[in-house]
Amino acid sequence: MYKVLTFNNISARGLDRLPRERFEVSSEIQQPDAVLLRSAKLHDWSIPETLKAVGRAGAGVNNIPVDAMSQRGIPVFNAPGANANAVKELVIAGMFLAARNICPAWAFAESLSGSDEQMNKTAEAEKKRFTGFELPGRTLGVIGLGAIGVNVANAASSLGMKVIGYDPKITVRSAWNLEAGVRRAHSVDEVMAAADIVTLHVPETDETRGMINGARLAGAREGQVLLNFARAGIVDDEAIVKGLQQGRLRTYVCDFPSATLKGQDGVVALPHIGASTAEAQENCAIMAADEVRDFLETGN
Ligand code: MLT
Repeated sequence: MYKVLTFNNISARGLDRLPRERFEVSSEIQQPDAVLLRSAKLHDWSIPETLKAVGRAGAGVNNIPVDAMSQRGIPVFNAPGANANAVKELVIAGMFLAARNICPAWAFAESLSGSDEQMNKTAEAEKKRFTGFELPGRTLGVIGLGAIGVNVANAASSLGMKVIGYDPKITVRSAWNLEAGVRRAHSVDEVMAAADIVTLHVPETDETRGMINGARLAGAREGQVLLNFARAGIVDDEAIVKGLQQGRLRTYVCDFPSATLKGQDGVVALPHIGASTAEAQENCAIMAADEVRDFLETGN
């Protein structure tokens, strides 16, 4: 009987991939053969002697001490692409939200009081300041062309946007998935200078940490919208505040709460919900559970 320790809620459809007659699955297990987790941080967890595999029901693995696991021969399986559609949909929502000033317009409407007639009169008088822009013909810069970046690039193309993409490690498969017409850039700076909207889809690594900093924003197209549904650490929040104050940035939409950004005009911060759809959670759990099961049972 294999013992699988779960951190976080793992979708039942994923857990169903571990037959009960061969797998004991619980959040209480002491000497696990494998771990299944979502965003729980394992860096301070003492790795049990019995552990043979880790399954991450998501794409990023920066919550897992991958090097320490590797040194002990423990593979870490993730679920690349399994939540790509969910993240893509929220990124596209983020673009519309920024382009049409939906958050400040909604906050303004909520702040109105009086009769319907009075509120509508004030709304009509003030709505000019929420004038937005349309997406067709605008340029989207996609930094990171893995499963999510490619999905976003293709969706933006189908909305009539021009798309410029950059990824130092682009694979042949990703390149093939890109719709015709997506221009390949050769650096982050080239994307920052060319795009009306930039979206980040790189993992957080030593190479990408703090990638969007003051110097990068200084070279950004004026009034740019920046979207970060990747990882908080890729962006220097202090630089974002300055960029917004100087008008270099128009809006920063991110999927991470931040003390530095809280209450800042032009910021929309969400609570890491990019992959939070029923479908994505099922897909990720199924992929991670299948990998862990196959590894435990076959060694592959
Ligand atoms: C991921 O790494 O897949 C996303 O950030 C979503 C998540 O952590 O659940």
